Amino acid sequence: MKKFLLLLFIFIVIGYGCTNKQAPINEKTIINDENESLLSPNRFLNIAHRGASGYAPEHTIESYELGERMHGDYIEIDLQMTKDGVLVAMHDMDVSRTTDHKGSIKELTIDDVEKLDAGSWFNEMNKDYAQPAFANAKVPTLDEIFETFGHESNYYIEIKTPEEYPNMVDELLKTLEKHGFLRDDVPEGKVIIQSFHAESLQKVHQLNENIPLIQLYRFDRTAAISEKELQKVRSYAVGIGVNYKSLTKRFVEKVRANDLLIHAYTVNDEKEMRKLMNWGVTGIFTDYPDVLHEVIEEAKNI
Ligand code: G3P
Ligand code: CA
Repeated sequence: MKKFLLLLFIFIVIGYGCTNKQAPINEKTIINDENESLLSPNRFLNIAHRGASGYAPEHTIESYELGERMHGDYIEIDLQMTKDGVLVAMHDMDVSRTTDHKGSIKELTIDDVEKLDAGSWFNEMNKDYAQPAFANAKVPTLDEIFETFGHESNYYIEIKTPEEYPNMVDELLKTLEKHGFLRDDVPEGKVIIQSFHAESLQKVHQLNENIPLIQLYRFDRTAAISEKELQKVRSYAVGIGVNYKSLTKRFVEKVRANDLLIHAYTVNDEKEMRKLMNWGVTGIFTDYPDVLHEVIEEAKNI
């Protein structure tokens, strides 16, 4: 009996060790080929979520620069609008979490916003990555971001809470036009627009059907979607973005089978990154683009 229990124990320990090994790279894994179009289903995208926001204050030029240095394919930008109609990069509608002031961004003018300190909160909360320069970080306007990074970078722009800002879509397209991003010679996928708000994406599509769109979803439980809904999304978007914890392999396969890209947000753990790559997701939003870069490089070398 003792012998049997010992053997059972060894069997369980070995079995556990095997299931805990890192996910192997399999035939579904997309090996990144930088010659492929950014929108190719054979190109895996490293999307620097709010910049390299694990290392620098989110949505600041400093965070975006770091994301670029860490091999992010895209600068991810959340858009809000000031009282006087200027598009600025900020995740929350309220400035309290990421600046030294309180209140709604739509109650502030651009002059007010320019005075905000958008970096000290990060230094206080992230002692390991704190830098004196972050204390001077500002909330950038979309214009300033394009002026800083130009056509060298790729942008993954989220229309946030457009219910609050009736002319947000028009302003965004005007700004893209002003900076030359709507010209025919601009490589496909240089600018992607994403939103949870289907109507806003459909409006963009009506105004300019060449801009690639990503329909965002947030599932509270396991992700589920009908073929009919996927076909509807396909009529205006090139793919979907989904919170990664809700994803299953079967869901990813269903989306891919409908010729849609699928980008998972927000993944900071390398084991999860590997697993999702194996399932066939075509891109990942991460606060740590350097970590995702390593995972992509590792996949190339297997
Ligand atoms: O845009 C994808 C992901 O960023 C959506 O979540 O809340 O970080 O904007 P959130
Ligand atoms: Ca976002």
